[in-house]
Amino acid sequence: MGLSTWKYQLFFLFCLILHSQLPFPSSLSSPLSSMPPCSALLHFSKSFSLNKSASLSLASYPKTASWREDKHCCTWDGIECDKNTSLVVGLDLSSSWLFGNILSNSTLFFLPNLRRLNLADNWFSDNWFSRSDSGIPSEFGNFKSLTHLNLSDFGISGQIPFEISQLSSLVSLDLSKNGLLIKAPVWKRVIGNLTQLRELILDRTNMSSIRLHSLMNLSSSLTTLSLRKCDLRGKLENNILCLPSIQTLDLTGNWDLEGSLLKSNWSCSSLNFLGLSGRMFSREFLNSIDNLKSLKHLALPGCNFTGSIPAWPGILTKLTYLDLSNNSFSGLLPSSLFNLPNLSTLNLGSNQLVGPLPSHVSGLNLVDLYLSSNFLNGTLPSWLFSMPSLETLYLHRNRFVGEIGEFKYNSLQELALGYNKLHGSIPRSVSRLVNLTILYLSSNNLSIMLGSEMFSKLENLEYLDFSNNSVSINNNAAYALPNLQQLNLSSSNISEFPIFLRRTTKLVYLDLSNNQIYGRVPKWLGDVGMNSLYYVNLRGNLLQGPFPTLNFSSTRVIFFSNNNLTGEIPSLICDAIHLEVVDLSHNNLSGMIPKCLVNSTALSVLDLRMNSLHGTIPATFAKGNNIRSINLNGNQLEGPLPRSLANCTYLEVLDLGNNKINGAFPYWLGSLRKLQVLVIRSNRFQGCIGNPKTKFPFLNLRIIDISNNQFNGPLPIKYFEYFKAMMNVNESEVALKYMGENYYQDSLNIMIKGQYIEMEKVLNILTSIDFSNNSFRGDMPKIIGRLKSLKGLNFSHNNLVGHIPPSIGNLTNLEWLDLSFNKLDGEIPSQLADLTWLAVLKLSHNQLTGHIPSGTQFNTFNNDSYTENLGLCGFPLSRTCENHKAKQPPPSTLQQDENLEHENGFGWQAVSIGYACGTIFGMLMGYLIFKIGKPKCLVRMVKLEQHIMLRRLKKNAYRRDGRR
Ligand SMILES: *[C@@H]1O[C@H](CO)[C@@H](O)[C@H](O)[C@H]1NC(C)=O
Ligand SMILES: *[C@@H]1O[C@H](CO)[C@@H](O)[C@H](O)[C@H]1NC(C)=O
Ligand SMILES: *[C@@H]1O[C@H](CO)[C@@H](O)[C@H](O)[C@H]1NC(C)=O
Ligand SMILES: *[C@@H]1O[C@H](CO)[C@@H](O)[C@H](O)[C@H]1NC(C)=O
Repeated sequence: MGLSTWKYQLFFLFCLILHSQLPFPSSLSSPLSSMPPCSALLHFSKSFSLNKSASLSLASYPKTASWREDKHCCTWDGIECDKNTSLVVGLDLSSSWLFGNILSNSTLFFLPNLRRLNLADNWFSDNWFSRSDSGIPSEFGNFKSLTHLNLSDFGISGQIPFEISQLSSLVSLDLSKNGLLIKAPVWKRVIGNLTQLRELILDRTNMSSIRLHSLMNLSSSLTTLSLRKCDLRGKLENNILCLPSIQTLDLTGNWDLEGSLLKSNWSCSSLNFLGLSGRMFSREFLNSIDNLKSLKHLALPGCNFTGSIPAWPGILTKLTYLDLSNNSFSGLLPSSLFNLPNLSTLNLGSNQLVGPLPSHVSGLNLVDLYLSSNFLNGTLPSWLFSMPSLETLYLHRNRFVGEIGEFKYNSLQELALGYNKLHGSIPRSVSRLVNLTILYLSSNNLSIMLGSEMFSKLENLEYLDFSNNSVSINNNAAYALPNLQQLNLSSSNISEFPIFLRRTTKLVYLDLSNNQIYGRVPKWLGDVGMNSLYYVNLRGNLLQGPFPTLNFSSTRVIFFSNNNLTGEIPSLICDAIHLEVVDLSHNNLSGMIPKCLVNSTALSVLDLRMNSLHGTIPATFAKGNNIRSINLNGNQLEGPLPRSLANCTYLEVLDLGNNKINGAFPYWLGSLRKLQVLVIRSNRFQGCIGNPKTKFPFLNLRIIDISNNQFNGPLPIKYFEYFKAMMNVNESEVALKYMGENYYQDSLNIMIKGQYIEMEKVLNILTSIDFSNNSFRGDMPKIIGRLKSLKGLNFSHNNLVGHIPPSIGNLTNLEWLDLSFNKLDGEIPSQLADLTWLAVLKLSHNQLTGHIPSGTQFNTFNNDSYTENLGLCGFPLSRTCENHKAKQPPPSTLQQDENLEHENGFGWQAVSIGYACGTIFGMLMGYLIFKIGKPKCLVRMVKLEQHIMLRRLKKNAYRRDGRR
């Protein structure tokens, strides 16, 4: 908009005259291609709605809102016209709140003379929860004169069209932060045709099919190449790092890059910005960075470097930015790092650094300091609190002790000291930190008073986490945190709701779990974060009375479990169309389960266990639902199971134990391909299980508990043939993982080693079968020996007869085996002595005879394992076997088993169990976390990283597809 005044006035006059004759077309009836640029722009702007959430930049504002038809478009905000020709040559609508699709018939594409186009930081998608995956419209290739194109973070993912390569005048191209995909043929054209490029920024574009070598063919004028998080793979060579004109090279976040061939004596004289991630960069390479004499910005996060931090005498004092995070640097912090007057960012987070911070520093004037997740100790020195420009201070997850000092300046924006051993109170000066957005002090020994003295000026605070400290609330003080988005006061000893929440309208995340908040949920809480609240956790308090009437319109996750809520689940909950996780377990809720609750397609987890719900399970499970986990254990539900449960194709966990449900075995659940846990114990199921009636039933089932019902008939041999997830799971290859997602982990109450245990988390390698307390009769099938991954087997309290099949000796992972209270006879197969993991063995109350096998594990069982049998002898029983002639054990049945397998059409191989036993045992036991006393919160602390994600919720976050 560089028109000098007189020219502008003349021009405007001209326009007015023109305007009176050629008014703006008010509709699109005129031929589009001839539409005057001002009209085209106006139409373009009107095809979007304006919404602040569409832009993340703090400086965003709706530029198009000020566009007025009665002024020429050259005067509009964001428009640049050529001084001589008055043609529209530049359009900058970055961070302008634009929300809505750009279609291929958009009038944007009738501005053929554009040279500069910037649409970055808007949301050109038709919904808030995902980017439009249509790809960049190919019409962008029409702007033949374009020299600068910036579409960074503009809300469109999908492919980069080849038409982009027709923009052969491009000097600067930024398509970053969209999750776009570039395929090799398009990339080849881009390289071949965009020969003028000086700046190429494609961060977060999927370039996994691009060969690294091709980077060398990029324009020789390239000064900036930024390919962060592009999934680049392969070996980097020096010549890639040293393109002829390169000044800025950022390849961080490409974890699969390898640098093994890097020589030590390289020099790229112009390189002043270097960012790399990946593996196998040598120490030699690390040291050689000191040759890059122009370097100012150095980022080497996640390069797997070990040893001490290099001295870099040549470059260190010139650096303004140093990021060595996520490596394995160890040793003490080098003192050389603390007298660098030019350094503004120092990031050494997530290493293995030890020792204290220096007590004095000279000339350090940092803006951002990240030292989190190391082993640093000692007290926090006063210089930390007296750097005039410091904006970010991350020291969380270390071993710092002592008190937090007083801040001398007010520049701080983010303060994270969580997970240390700090004590005392929060310094008074925090109340002056008016720019503070993040205050993360979780898990220290601080005594914190929540009151107006501290907060009345912290108007910018977005994230507040005092969890796992000792907090007291002054509810008489009037203050508000108008921008608060996340509050975590979990396990902080509070006994009332913080009233200041009443005035927070932007709250997204609220965690008040595991406190002593007593009584009814106040009415006002219903209006907190009315259109933003995403996550509410009130778990583990002393809440009473009826179900809280919150405004659920935006809520996705509720945890109200472990309280004393009474009354019915209100039908109001049906307004919560976005609810994904509903955990109301361990309360006193009565009435029926609202039908609408299971009818939602958003729902993923329904946990209503341990209440007093009655009636039947609603039959309204919709087709295409997304339910992953249903737990209704410990209620008074009755009637048969609704067949519509078979619509839950994503179901992994179904726990209906301890109810009054009746009917035959729900064989039709066998078609649920993802089902891993089926618990229907202690109900009124009855009858013979019979043969499968679905194809490949229960292929993924790992835990089945049908105990304490009235099942009869033979054991369901045919089903055992299909329990593939219990067969040959090679534990050393399975990535150990808990069931569930990061915000909800399944917990289960199951019998382990003879005791019911409440497992807070369920490891994905836990496998068990519990058919106890029914009326199964007949033989124990040999085929059970195929379920080699089984950890627990319980057939006790039935009417089983015959021998114990020796194939049980194949269950090499077995940790508990209960066959007690049956009518088994014959000898205990000697093969059982091979079960090195067996910790619990119960064979009492049978008709077994003969020699008790001896062997490592067997020497640990006592009399109780064998009482009430006809004729067992040998250790540990007092009866010796002298008069008792040991019979030959029956021949192994392995061979037969194998043949059977082939008939069934899916093969299995006897995999040798070649892992070190100790580790697996250790792992399993280590990963079972039991409930001790007060229920612990299952949801992990929201990490700071997650916070950043949550800040972006509206835009980015919820990609349903990404979860599966
Ligand atoms: C563009 O096409 C869509 C349908 O594809 C239509 O609804 C819309 O009105 C068209 N817009 C313009 C500006 O012609
Ligand atoms: C290269 O750019 C020119 C000029 O825009 C264009 O005509 C040609 O089709 C482009 N070539 C490729 C391979 O895209
Ligand atoms: C880091 O290097 C060590 C050996 O040098 C290797 O065992 C480890 O897997 C590497 N880690 C990553 C993340 O590549
Ligand atoms: C701090 O850590 C260092 C290195 O691990 C150790 O030698 C020192 O004893 C620790 N100091 C304190 C006070 O714990």
